[in-house]
Amino acid sequence: MPRWTQDKQHLFRLVVLVGVAVAGFLAFRHFMVPEGFGALGGHYRAGALDDNRNRPRAFAGRAACIECHSDIDAQRVGSKHAAIGCEACHGPLAAHAANPDPPPARPDVNAVCLVCHLAGSAKPAAFPQINPAEHMDGGRCGECHLPHHPERAPGESTNQESQG
Ligand code: HEC
Ligand code: HEC
Ligand code: HEC
Ligand code: HEC
Repeated sequence: MPRWTQDKQHLFRLVVLVGVAVAGFLAFRHFMVPEGFGALGGHYRAGALDDNRNRPRAFAGRAACIECHSDIDAQRVGSKHAAIGCEACHGPLAAHAANPDPPPARPDVNAVCLVCHLAGSAKPAAFPQINPAEHMDGGRCGECHLPHHPERAPGESTNQESQG
């Protein structure tokens, strides 16, 4: 009898152990890997695409805003703010664009302006930044800057004469 067959008890236990480990792994994998994982080749669940497509849209995009608020678009012409998306300041308003009633709340001027313009060392030096304590004596940004054309003060003559 060859020497290695004398140890077949050892081998048998080893094979059983490995078998249990493999079966355990396969069972774990079966229950833990979600359906459709890797079905499209990538390291993700195929159904995640549909889940995301089915989420309601939060942002309408400025083209939609301008369809109804063309006056605001006209106010922005020539301003450094002309390129900023409406919803960067107004927040996501797809629900309002789909159904304008009731109208959304106006943003808080000081809070919204300082999100971008509050001086901070992390901002590029060329970006216009202010320190409110030095820049103004209390009050609100909107008293001196029109939000849609901040180079102008309220009441200053505009290319599209508008009040408010
Ligand atoms: C289908 C037309 C329509 C679309 C699209 C639309 N709005 Fe309006 N919006 C209105 C109407 C009507 C009112 C209420 C009347 C008013 O104040 O002009 C209003 C009111 C507002 C107000 C409040 C005005 C106030 O006087 O307090 C804001 C702010 C506003 N819209 C921003 C937006 C933004 C930003 C978008 C794009 C995401 C947008 N709207 C898309 C029709 C629309
Ligand atoms: C830089 C920030 C900013 C951007 C960009 C911006 N808005 Fe405004 N908007 C404001 C603020 C702040 C107010 C509130 C002004 C107030 O309370 O007097 C306002 C007010 C309004 C109002 C109320 C009526 C009025 O004339 O004040 C409407 C409507 C409006 N915005 C629509 C828009 C639309 C449409 C766009 C894009 C074409 C846009 N906004 C882009 C900051 C912004
Ligand atoms: C989403 C970011 C953002 C918000 C919010 C914002 N701004 Fe601006 N602002 C800009 C950018 C970008 C420029 C153009 C900077 C440039 O071209 O150097 C600018 C330019 C300006 C300028 C002209 C500065 C110059 O060099 O002539 C003023 C004044 C200004 N903003 C005031 C305001 C006021 C007041 C508010 C609030 C109603 C506001 N901004 C809100 C991004 C923002
Ligand atoms: C009392 C009037 C007044 C108030 C209130 C005011 N500003 Fe100004 N702001 C000015 C004037 C005038 C200038 C142009 C002269 C200058 O650069 O100081 C200016 C310039 C700016 C500039 C351009 C700075 C640069 O370096 O080019 C920014 C950005 C600005 N303001 C943002 C704001 C913000 C944000 C608020 C509110 C937190 C605000 N301002 C409140 C009068 C005002």
